[in-house]
Amino acid sequence: MKFTGFLLLGLASYAKAYPSAAQKSKPPFFVPAGDSTTAVQSTGGGGWGDGFLNTTLFKGASGRNLGHNGATTVSFRTGGDWDEVLATVKQSKESYRPFVTIQFGHNDQKAKANISLSQYTQNLEDLVKEVLDAGATPILVTPLSRRNYETSTGTPLIVQSLSNETAATIKAAHSTGVRVIDLNKASTDYLNAIGPDDAYTYNLNPTDYTHLNGPGSVVFGGIVADLIIKVAAELSKDGYLKVDKTLKKDVKDGIYYWP
Ligand SMILES: *[C@@H]1O[C@H](CO)[C@@H](O)[C@H](O)[C@H]1NC(C)=O
Ligand SMILES: *[C@@H]1O[C@H](CO)[C@@H](O)[C@H](O)[C@H]1NC(C)=O
Ligand SMILES: *[C@@H]1O[C@H](CO)[C@@H](O)[C@H](O)[C@H]1NC(C)=O
Repeated sequence: MKFTGFLLLGLASYAKAYPSAAQKSKPPFFVPAGDSTTAVQSTGGGGWGDGFLNTTLFKGASGRNLGHNGATTVSFRTGGDWDEVLATVKQSKESYRPFVTIQFGHNDQKAKANISLSQYTQNLEDLVKEVLDAGATPILVTPLSRRNYETSTGTPLIVQSLSNETAATIKAAHSTGVRVIDLNKASTDYLNAIGPDDAYTYNLNPTDYTHLNGPGSVVFGGIVADLIIKVAAELSKDGYLKVDKTLKKDVKDGIYYWP
């Protein structure tokens, strides 16, 4: 009797310390959807997705990078990638809390894509709604900055070539009421602080100022994680999402970081 009472007391205090443990204990599953600046490192492509998945997820958190080289908000759907995202959400739901990050713009903005800004915005809104309908959490991501500098002020500064797509992505987040992280601003700020010579060390190859090599993926994947923590604090509190302390501090202080 004495033993049972002790055991029950123990269980009661456990339940108090961890409310609704069953629901909240599911680790997140991240599905980065986007173009080559999200995708796996390959010939002619490589983004932040793998660096993010490989280095910032803990305690059973997981994910699958579905970035596709050359994708627009239109081709990602017509080419079947979006169905793959939704199927992955469905599969992961039983054991995880799925999150879908959505980042486009680098190819949508090209004249040959023939996608207007308002169409781009609408397409992002449609993707967001479908993620919500699938029972996952969407996070819109403004496009990663290219590493092209202009020197008209005497100080090399990043050419703001994705400002319209950045504004449109934020607009789509506001109209749908979902979370957004401003990767365009965070990457631009960091690249302005470190300057071109250090920025180019992240190039996929010496003359590719758009795509990231492995270390670049780790750095910008860490920046993405740090931004996600700011809009989804619960993930960091539960220990699922963590950014290397030195990376976090260096990016904040505008100091070059190499993993
Ligand atoms: C571009 O898109 C517009 C609107 O959808 C369409 O009317 C036009 O024919 C397209 N142009 C080309 C060259 O495909
Ligand atoms: C943004 O859109 C405006 C209006 O269409 C255009 O004039 C401008 O060149 C665009 N800026 C960039 C950086 O693409
Ligand atoms: C991520 O991990 C995979 C599997 O270990 C590896 O092949 C890949 O190079 C890693 N990529 C990055 C950017 O860390």
